Amino acid sequence: MSSCPVVIDRTGQDIHAEGARIRAQGPVARIELPGGVPAWSVTDYAIARQVMADPRFSRDPRKHWRAYVEGEIGMDFPLIGWVLMQNITTTHGEDHNRLRSLTVKAFSPRRVGMMRASVERIAGQLLDDLATVPAGEPVDLKARFARELPSRVICDLFGIPDHLRDALQKGGDVNVDTTISAEESAANVAEWHREMLRFIEAKRNSPDRADDMTADLLDAQENGSRLTETELVDTLHLLLATGTEPVMNLVTNAVLALLTHPEQLALVKSGEISWRDVIEETLRAEAPVAHLPFRFPLEDVELGGVTVPKGDPILINYAAVGRDPAVHGDSAADFDVTRAGKDKHLSFGHGAHRCLGTTLGLLEAEIALSGLFERFPELSLSGTREEIEPQGTFIMNGIRALPVRLTAPVPAGAR
Ligand code: HEM
Repeated sequence: MSSCPVVIDRTGQDIHAEGARIRAQGPVARIELPGGVPAWSVTDYAIARQVMADPRFSRDPRKHWRAYVEGEIGMDFPLIGWVLMQNITTTHGEDHNRLRSLTVKAFSPRRVGMMRASVERIAGQLLDDLATVPAGEPVDLKARFARELPSRVICDLFGIPDHLRDALQKGGDVNVDTTISAEESAANVAEWHREMLRFIEAKRNSPDRADDMTADLLDAQENGSRLTETELVDTLHLLLATGTEPVMNLVTNAVLALLTHPEQLALVKSGEISWRDVIEETLRAEAPVAHLPFRFPLEDVELGGVTVPKGDPILINYAAVGRDPAVHGDSAADFDVTRAGKDKHLSFGHGAHRCLGTTLGLLEAEIALSGLFERFPELSLSGTREEIEPQGTFIMNGIRALPVRLTAPVPAGAR
């Protein structure tokens, strides 16, 4: 075992190969983040679960990242956006409870159950739209379907008007792009901050308060929730981003896995395997969120044979955790919808910061996948698997585009 940190590839060319390299160094291993910043990566399922449930680990870099607090991390750190944003993902203890209690109600299983009809309606519209693509013509399923569905659902939930949707959601796309420079990242933060403030002002000044999540947050703010303006902006930004990106990746990763494993797709089509099985196996083998910044121990902690010093940054490597051979054996890296124990992953997190959108994400993925394969049973990749490019990030596990043919090409003589 070498003690040399694995230098994280900011372009995310092969996050699984990288995860395997990190695991080879130990269950909790040293890595180097973009900007030469040292950190730790957890690839072991049991240890990751323990860290996520342990209140001795904070997610607040502004209070608990030693190097940041002592001024060693500057504005030129490429992931600075993940340090500066103030929302539920970057707070700890009381601050976290306060922010979480404001948003948790909107995503309760009951409220999400009420969203089913609207998710089905939006999916139906997008599928109708796809049906107008000429037979056999390639189409990017990620842009036209997998992104559009969760994006429209979350924008509806927050009452974002059509003309602002692209601008407000662009911030989320750029935030996970780890190939950009610190300057581009800062410009992105400034731009969505400006747009979001304008949107909030318009909502605040509107004579009729709409029945949406933005209005709920504004009401809470006016009624003594202690939600600061920055927290409000950053919470809205977070929810628009988390409401879209991981669901989009879950759907594209599942479609890609099924199209490259036709024998497993056949099991789903014949009803032997459920969509829920496909979704769980995709969450395990292709975790939509790959390697998430940050957690910080509040004291020196012994983990997996190493001592992680107080205030060091730790990333949970969800993509590697789902493929932990100690849990899933030698075939852990294989996509297999028939596998027992496929729900043993941590792709929605665990503990106090567990994903708030689990029920919504699962609902959207199930409606998207069942609707897509029912409407387009001949769906196929339009090129080869090798031609598909990674998204350009190590934080998410996604692809740039998913070119498919919805129907078989019409033979030349039949046109
Ligand atoms: C399949 C889709 C999704 C996946 C795989 C996913 C995954 C995750 C992960 C890994 C975390 C971090 C958990 C941790 O730190 O332990 C998280 C947090 C979060 N997710 Fe999701 N997510 C999904 C969908 C959604 C949706 C639809 C929303 C709705 C807006 C959402 C909202 C959130 C929020 C607000 C947090 C922060 C919770 C906190 O820090 O207390 N997610 N998600």
